Amino acid sequence: MKNTALIVGASGISGNNLAQELLNQNWTTYGITRSSDVDLKGLYNVKADLLDKAALETALAEIKPTHVFFTAWMRKDTEAKNIKVNAALVRNVLDVLAPKQSVKHVALVTGLKHYLGPFDAYAQEGFLPETPVRTEHPRLAVDNFYYAQEDELFAAAKRDGFTWSVHRAHTMIGLAVGNLMNMGSTLAAYATLCKETGKPFTWPGSEAQWKGISDVTDARLLAKQFVWAATTPEAANQAFNTANGDVFRWEWLWKEIADYFKVDYKGYAPGTPDLETLMQDDAALWQQIAEKYNLAETNLNRVASPWHTDLDLGRPIEVMTDMSKSRKLGFTAYQDTRDSFFDLFDTLKAKHIIPA
Ligand SMILES: NC(=O)c1ccc[n+]([C@@H]2O[C@H](COP(=O)([O-])OP(=O)(O)OC[C@H]3O[C@@H](n4cnc5c(N)ncnc54)[C@H](OP(=O)(O)O)[C@@H]3O)[C@@H](O)[C@H]2O)c1
Repeated sequence: MKNTALIVGASGISGNNLAQELLNQNWTTYGITRSSDVDLKGLYNVKADLLDKAALETALAEIKPTHVFFTAWMRKDTEAKNIKVNAALVRNVLDVLAPKQSVKHVALVTGLKHYLGPFDAYAQEGFLPETPVRTEHPRLAVDNFYYAQEDELFAAAKRDGFTWSVHRAHTMIGLAVGNLMNMGSTLAAYATLCKETGKPFTWPGSEAQWKGISDVTDARLLAKQFVWAATTPEAANQAFNTANGDVFRWEWLWKEIADYFKVDYKGYAPGTPDLETLMQDDAALWQQIAEKYNLAETNLNRVASPWHTDLDLGRPIEVMTDMSKSRKLGFTAYQDTRDSFFDLFDTLKAKHIIPA
């Protein structure tokens, strides 16, 4: 049977980059979104609210996927609500697909909150893991929507007989507009605002993150790992970490990003406000910049998510990701982190999201 992919959340940072990878590899590819249009040649974009099972049944009536890639999530104000809603997203999709008996593999992206704790307890005392984070770390003794999504996946796999993979990504760098968490475009927007006002590109995070070793996950590398795991028998029924495979320190990458945007920079200094505070009054200025440079997005909130970048850059420890498990099984893709950021910035310019 020819492979047919269904990407759940095809407009997001992980879903959109995966769609591009699958199309490059000539897969028949469907992508569900709630309301966004996905502008990718060859992608069949279907729309449904995953919380509305009847609508989902209608939207998927004619589709028989062999491979499902689950990249959707919703953010609620407590972890209890995150668990309820995000478990339902996975359950509803897999329940609707079950009678078709077409699904061979389901891949789910989660992230390092698996090791660092949910938003409510993120990287706080008592939840700080050993680093590099390794896949064999036991679950933390705290509720987490990633665990709830995994459990829905495992239960459906047992019921329906498909194989599964889980992909625990670090901070994702890649193209997506209007999505919930995007550090790359947040830093691009912040640097653009600094350039326009003449203010320095100021490090808003902790000393541990400034000086320590870090890594990130290029969404294009996650896409490659997704496809590898979905098509490699040895990778079945495994959870993997997903990161670029190199490491960096913000104390030099911050300067390189400042140089890219031709702005002055300021490094770690105690008492510096976080990025959400530094950008809190910038919505009107972004609109002016958008009009001046004829940008595609006048709404700063659709380009930048400083609350999320603050969570990462404010962590009290250095955090990096052990990639041994998938490497040992043959996934050897590697992504240069400088290229992750600078390719993205070039793309944001080409798409008129930031000034050229
Ligand atoms: N972004 C990161 O840096 C990062 C890092 C590590 C791990 N993760 C994890 O990776 C997973 C995927 O995150 P992401 O950042 O790729 O997501 P994202 O960019 O915010 O995209 C979410 C996608 O889900 C869709 N969606 C949301 N609610 C829906 C609903 N009710 N019905 C139908 N579609 C719905 C959205 O469609 P619309 O556009 O139509 O709303 C969008 O396509 C999450 O668990 C996240 O925690 C993310």
